[in-house]
Amino acid sequence: METANEIKSETPVEILFVDDEKNVLQSLKRLCIEDDYSVILANSGEEALEILKNNSNIGLIVSDQRMPAMTGSEFLEKAKEMLPDTIRILLTGYADINAVADAINKGGAYRYITKPWNDEELIQIIGDAVRRYSLIKENKRLQEIIRKQNEELKRWNSQLEFFVQEQTIEIQNKNKELEKFNENLKKNFKNSIFAFSSLIELRDKKTANHSKNVAELSVKTARAMNLSGKEIETITVAALLHDIGKIGIPDALLLREEDEMDKEALREYMRHPVRGQAAIDSIEDLRESGILIRHHHEWYNGTGFPDQLSGKKIPLGAKIIAIADFTDKTIRNLDRDNAIEISLKKVKDKLGTRFDYEIYPYIEASVREVYSKVLQQTGTNMVEMELSVNDIKEGTLLSRDVKSGTGLILLPKGTILNWRNIQALRRYYQLDPSNTGIFVLVKR
Ligand SMILES: [Fe+2]
Ligand SMILES: [Fe+2]
Repeated sequence: METANEIKSETPVEILFVDDEKNVLQSLKRLCIEDDYSVILANSGEEALEILKNNSNIGLIVSDQRMPAMTGSEFLEKAKEMLPDTIRILLTGYADINAVADAINKGGAYRYITKPWNDEELIQIIGDAVRRYSLIKENKRLQEIIRKQNEELKRWNSQLEFFVQEQTIEIQNKNKELEKFNENLKKNFKNSIFAFSSLIELRDKKTANHSKNVAELSVKTARAMNLSGKEIETITVAALLHDIGKIGIPDALLLREEDEMDKEALREYMRHPVRGQAAIDSIEDLRESGILIRHHHEWYNGTGFPDQLSGKKIPLGAKIIAIADFTDKTIRNLDRDNAIEISLKKVKDKLGTRFDYEIYPYIEASVREVYSKVLQQTGTNMVEMELSVNDIKEGTLLSRDVKSGTGLILLPKGTILNWRNIQALRRYYQLDPSNTGIFVLVKR
């Protein structure tokens, strides 16, 4: 940034004397010899105007009034238009009061000096005028510097604003990236949980979709009970993984019903809730769900396992999962007709002993919602057919799970086929071909 000292003008002030009498001009010039002024002489107003055109550095004009062609006051008026900052002084005789008035009013004269003048006084006046001119110039110069500095400050300010904006945008973008990254992590995490939940079902064909159904039923019930988003998430994970502890149970035992087990088998079976909790305990985010997994076989009256908790001591999520678990197992073992009513009746019979009264009204509605759609369409006027993957159509209901050749469930029973899952099935059937067709329900 420029400073006031750096651009200070170095050139001496120029003075223009205008008079038609050469000897007057010479004596005026002589007067100024001792001072550091640069002096220019003109014999007429016209000549002086010519000089002004090419010389903007003139700080003081001293003009005689009485000159042929152009008078001093006329000349000063024109000079004022050309160089408004220049100081103007009129030299005049006693009688020229009108000329003086014109010179001051129209020509903006600073002073007038009467002829003949007093040398000392004139030198003094010239000195004052030059100082005045210098002050005006200096003032303008400083104002110019202030203006420039203000402009620069404004520019800096807007640049600063721009940088701040740029940085804000950058931070926002980073945030969005992080959010997306987080979303992906969450999605992967959920997918992993789904994958784990289907592991146990891969071994036990009877339980296909059990975890998924228990999760759906539990979530609907939890929503109906107005539980928080966080609680619902914990319940979802726990419901999907509630039987993950069964992975350690031998196949022979796993395939038996509870009431077919001998004492030792039952003891082994009763370990699965604690094993399930232990299996996921190393994942901090899943610990809350682990607690629900531990208690999904507790009974309301305190006779369940593993900790014989009762009533309000059993976590609410565990009590919801317990009813959902029982309902899904019961429904899948019943004939389609009246399966919902029968299973609900069985749940009702166990209220107060195995299950909590308070949850029943909420799970009742959820059970009807989750199972009615599938069961309705599996009514008596529908018949099961096996179709090739190329013959299936949109809107058809799957009557059995669709599995790949290696036994992975591609689509669960009850799914209504749409364009997208038909395309996916066709793709899978090429990668990992199944030896059966696709079982669907069609109208008789
Ligand atoms: Fe269980
Ligand atoms: Fe279960």
